[in-house]
Amino acid sequence: MIPFLDLKTPHIELEEELVQVFREALRNAAFIGGPQVEAFENEFAEFCGTKYCVGVNSGTDALRFALIAAGIGPGDEVITVPNTFIATTEAISQAGATPSFVDIDERTYNMDPQKLKDYLRKRSAPSAGRHASRPKAVIPVHLYGQPADMDAILEIADQYHLIVIEDACQAHGAGYFSKKENRWKKAGSMGLAAAFSFYPGKNLGACGEGGAVTTNDEEIAQKVRMLRDHGQIKKYFHDMEGYNGRLDAIQAATLRIKLRHLSDWNEKRQQNAHRYNELFGQSDGVITPYEPSWTRAVYHLYIIRTSERDRLQQFLSQQAIGTGLHYPIPLHLQKAYSESRYTAGDFPISEKVASTILSLPMFPELTHHQQEFVVGRIKEFLSGE
Ligand SMILES: Cc1ncc(COP(=O)(O)O)c(C=O)c1O
Repeated sequence: MIPFLDLKTPHIELEEELVQVFREALRNAAFIGGPQVEAFENEFAEFCGTKYCVGVNSGTDALRFALIAAGIGPGDEVITVPNTFIATTEAISQAGATPSFVDIDERTYNMDPQKLKDYLRKRSAPSAGRHASRPKAVIPVHLYGQPADMDAILEIADQYHLIVIEDACQAHGAGYFSKKENRWKKAGSMGLAAAFSFYPGKNLGACGEGGAVTTNDEEIAQKVRMLRDHGQIKKYFHDMEGYNGRLDAIQAATLRIKLRHLSDWNEKRQQNAHRYNELFGQSDGVITPYEPSWTRAVYHLYIIRTSERDRLQQFLSQQAIGTGLHYPIPLHLQKAYSESRYTAGDFPISEKVASTILSLPMFPELTHHQQEFVVGRIKEFLSGE
């Protein structure tokens, strides 16, 4: 049995440390806010290379609060990609805005800057006609742990006066080389604000729900702090209506322990990804991930593509190899958006990719032997043995 994800091993290894902080929280009855949350926020901001980090209840809350804090609301359109988890567009709708899509780059699976540019050019042309909303922000998603092409996206956003919020929910610690600044930057430090998820299966996962907004903008950080806590900074003094979206103290303490291991875990994921690539070599019928020289992906997921996807997934399941689909149906074709202006064929690359992707087992503890077994079975299937 090779699991898709091994959540047990890291928790067994960290059990004593984790139990210790759970015990301290119980003895101090310290559950909401407090020093563990503040310490985690400082440590994660430092890790990402941002001035501020505000802990919240989930990645979805992080996206929603970042959008609202940036002034996005009714009448605004927020552009993202169709091949993401629905939380990206839920947050846009829940902020009162309208989601719209541009297609992805077929090699990186991330937003194609040229398509963003073409779309914005079309929307601002005199012949564009009337639209119910106007583009105000863009959310590039650093899918599978690989940063989108942020230099290009930021330049286009600047030209069209768009706010950029990064969806870094799968990209804790991923690197992007900014040619403009001639330096490596971390995912979550490039837009006006960024959202992270600490859902347990993420590269940095809590023992429950968790999320964070990172930003260099003091006003955004302050607004997110208010939004997560019923619009208050001082107890029972509400400057606005907010939400109940706080990061709890036990999760913050858990995340502080795990953050110390994140770089090591990410490195192991990278080694595993490179080993998969080597094992596949130039195998016929399999497309392995493309990592441009200007990114350092952290392989939240390792994706292959094959036209035999459904049959291969079934075969691997019979061999007790866990796999996943991220994501099987692009958002514009989901039932939830059946009333939208989109139909099949609108985003051909996202649609093609969705029908051919397969997520293979990927976690830091994955062994050489397990990877050889997985690739061996896939090659066996594809060669029709
Ligand atoms: C790309 C992306 N965006 C947003 C989210 C939402 O995060 P959460 O599940 O913590 O609300 C996730 C998490 O699954 C995600 O993968």
